[in-house]
Amino acid sequence: MVEGAQDEPVDGPETAAPADVDLARRRFFRQFAADAFQAAATVVGAANAIQQTSIQAASAILDPEAGAKAMAAAASPATAEPVAPTGFRTAFRLDGERLILVDQRSLPGRLNEIECRTGADVAWSIREMVIRGAPAIGQAAAYGMALTAGRAIALQPTVRRATIRATGTSLRSARPTAVNLGWAVDRMMAAMEAVGLRDEDEDGAAIADAMWAEANAICAEATRDHGLLAEHGLASLPAPLDRPLRLLTHCNTGPLACGQFGTALGIVQAAVHAGREVHVHVDETRPYLQGARLTAWELEQAGVPYTLIADSAAGALLATGTIDAVLVGADRVAANGDTANKVGTYPLAALAARHRVPFFVCAPINSVDRATPDGASIEIEERSASEVLEFGGVRVAPPGATVWNPSFDVTPADLISAIVTEEGVLVAPFGPALERAVAARHARPPIVAGTAAPNPARVAAAVAG
Ligand code: MRU
Repeated sequence: MVEGAQDEPVDGPETAAPADVDLARRRFFRQFAADAFQAAATVVGAANAIQQTSIQAASAILDPEAGAKAMAAAASPATAEPVAPTGFRTAFRLDGERLILVDQRSLPGRLNEIECRTGADVAWSIREMVIRGAPAIGQAAAYGMALTAGRAIALQPTVRRATIRATGTSLRSARPTAVNLGWAVDRMMAAMEAVGLRDEDEDGAAIADAMWAEANAICAEATRDHGLLAEHGLASLPAPLDRPLRLLTHCNTGPLACGQFGTALGIVQAAVHAGREVHVHVDETRPYLQGARLTAWELEQAGVPYTLIADSAAGALLATGTIDAVLVGADRVAANGDTANKVGTYPLAALAARHRVPFFVCAPINSVDRATPDGASIEIEERSASEVLEFGGVRVAPPGATVWNPSFDVTPADLISAIVTEEGVLVAPFGPALERAVAARHARPPIVAGTAAPNPARVAAAVAG
């Protein structure tokens, strides 16, 4: 794995936005208009543009003004000075046979990228939190498996399949709570198994093609699903008449966490692009500070007004009666609606209930795990003591301190007002509602990602030969 420390040049000469940036801006606004969410082809095209073009171009789509500057600066290296990153970033992009991840550990101070060439690289990146957020790690894992399949083309068939299976196992176990990871690995394994054993040469290429296509489909479907989710969420938000909509959120649920528009933050973006005045209160999200480091950064780049609060201030904030709704994501929704999400979500739900503020869990259907009956059955990841013992790398506790650091907690279903999914806004009783939503999601026709990247190993071979 190669670590590329690419501080992004953004302070180039002030230039008017190029025409293609205007085009990108229009496409961006269209994406968040209600009708565009219905048009899978449009959305898939946007996803490919976001994931497969350069980081400057992605920035142009998601934040046209900063993107224009970035592209101008990139075009004039002499004037480009490394500065702190700007622009809404997607979590990853593809470049041939490389998956390039934004290193979320160094945000918001520096925009570094990590290059992955194999599924093992991706598993390492997920374990180390280079990339995090349940939907994003599922998508990255899918591409990780496709990369390994591409590198295994020339192996003997049984070795090839064993290598791919082992990669799946290591990806699946990289983070235990987010069900999207296992879900994506299962889909990728099924794509491999669906290729019947052929002669040695053909088997490898056929498997790589099938797995690359499946990773593209997972990503394209996420774009459609998260777009629909945002649309449903927008329709169910309260609408105060004479003041901005005031929301409270926890952890990070934007493009960095979801690979696409975001779940809870996708709804915020949809509201802003629908012309709603919105103000978001952001929990800092101790101990890993996803709220302070990532959500605040994403909202700032998107120009959405926000106020950062200490997690422990949430009760005082809700007691003021000024918050219209709490929006959070999910790492796993059990069959009965109990939901595992970033630690601190459960107390927030209890406080929201106490103050009669609607509490929305926003998650795609692939975060629903009907094989897990309830919250007590969800495996909760425990993370390093240093996350609690230190703040910004500085030790804050005495040497003898012992630590319990669960990364997630479980919000009981009875504290959840609604679960917002691509299949609609689900309300209690959640068991049957989730069952129907899962069935409806499975009944959706698969997206044919027409313009998605073909297996790059195949492309390279065709160019060479
Ligand atoms: O430990 P993380 O940062 O990977 O946590 C996962 C999350 O991003 C959150 O729990 C989030 O709220 C749900 S996933 C969009």
